[in-house]
Amino acid sequence: MRSMMSNNKGRSLGAHHHLPCTRMQQIGALFLVVSAFFFARLFFDRPPCDHPVRASGGPLPLPFTGGGDLSWPHRGYGPHLDLKIYVYDEDEVDGLKALLYGRDGRITPKDCLKGQWGTQVKIHKLLLQSRFRTRKKEEADLFFVPAYVKCVRMMGGLKDKEITETYVKVLSQLPYFRLSGGRDHIFVFPSGAGAHLFKSWEIYINRSIILTPEGDRTDKKDTSAFNTWKDIIIPGNVDDLMTTNEARAIQPLPLSKRKYLANYLGRAQGKVGRLKLIELAKQFPDKLESPELKFSGPDKLGRAEYFEHLRNAKFCLAPRGESSWTLRFYESFFVECVPVILSDQIELPFQNVIDYTQISIKWPSNRIGPELLEYLESIPDEDIERMLSRGRKVKCLWVYAPESSPCSAMQATLWELQRKVRKFHQSAETFWLHNGSYTNRDLVKFSDWKPPMPLA
Ligand SMILES: *[C@@H]1O[C@H](CO)[C@@H](O)[C@H](O)[C@H]1NC(C)=O
Ligand SMILES: *[C@@H]1O[C@H](CO)[C@@H](O)[C@H](O)[C@H]1NC(C)=O
Repeated sequence: MRSMMSNNKGRSLGAHHHLPCTRMQQIGALFLVVSAFFFARLFFDRPPCDHPVRASGGPLPLPFTGGGDLSWPHRGYGPHLDLKIYVYDEDEVDGLKALLYGRDGRITPKDCLKGQWGTQVKIHKLLLQSRFRTRKKEEADLFFVPAYVKCVRMMGGLKDKEITETYVKVLSQLPYFRLSGGRDHIFVFPSGAGAHLFKSWEIYINRSIILTPEGDRTDKKDTSAFNTWKDIIIPGNVDDLMTTNEARAIQPLPLSKRKYLANYLGRAQGKVGRLKLIELAKQFPDKLESPELKFSGPDKLGRAEYFEHLRNAKFCLAPRGESSWTLRFYESFFVECVPVILSDQIELPFQNVIDYTQISIKWPSNRIGPELLEYLESIPDEDIERMLSRGRKVKCLWVYAPESSPCSAMQATLWELQRKVRKFHQSAETFWLHNGSYTNRDLVKFSDWKPPMPLA
């Protein structure tokens, strides 16, 4: 089954055929099928305009209706999810607890759940509850190694050297990691540093599957820890304040009510593009809102206040910061401004199924200036509305919702993971015999491999 997975490229979000039923398109745009096997499709092209609608306005599961243009997940990923993921238990591997809660065990998952890096906790928790979780290592397609190291490091729970040592200790206890050379093991690195958080990633986990929002890290390191062909870009963690459908605190404004053409609301951090925007805002204060914000004090915006400002422009500029990904890109979908990416190296999630030209703009970062504002000003409101309405259809893919929710960042990540599954595993230190038994170089059977495993 898996080896027969479709190679078809994902179809784009529908660029063609706009029906005059935008309101219904917004709401009825997603529909899904949950049949005996999990089987869902996301509907982008030509949504019929007579979908029943739930009071909440959320996506409504509908019976499968067939038809030619359905694009996701079938065209992007294959017909259904069939996946077994083993999640290492904190009690099973010495050192995992330190990677989760710090050397003294004092850092709580709750501390680590908030903010743009919350994905390291959310993905772990969602996998623990997932119907695709298996408790049997022998039948697992993939292995998840939980760690909240971004948070743990930020909160002083582990230093860089301890992070490296602890990872090495953990990995040396995993025979299955040794068997595949790490190729079927999954790690989450939720920040711009990507896998560089584990300084020796290149020696120990350079074949593993890395989930990270960051596809590039060229500003400080000479090698990128992201590899397009084995790793997966995940969306950053947008504040629950905005993503929880029922309790969404800040609603989008109608285009005509927005005060600004564009905004950038963030700290400059000494980055060229951001500094240019802050300067530009001084020249064109009625078009561009871009105050110089600070990390704390009166020039810091509170969470709600931040979103209040963000929704007050037609375009939300998303310049590169310390690294190329930016949470602002994802946030813009929840206040419904068109994201304008000013970060040349960015990699975006789920490119099998999302055509980003339909929902965003990417502008060369060396052309930040009056020219950019002139260009944005020339875009008719109806084009903006069209992009926003398509954005409404995909934004569910930025939300780390429970698996019962058929469209979510987690669902899409599971589809991506499924593409990484292999029937066969090997490494330079893995051998096999006529009867299918794996051995190591000393012809010791796999079942007799005992930790500590040699690494690298
Ligand atoms: C991974 O690291 C090993 C050395 O530890 C190196 O030989 C190999 O080329 C690296 N592989 C990739 C894909 O970078
Ligand atoms: C396969 O063959 C090897 C060598 O003859 C033997 O040691 C091993 O137990 C066999 N494995 C199975 C599963 O029969």
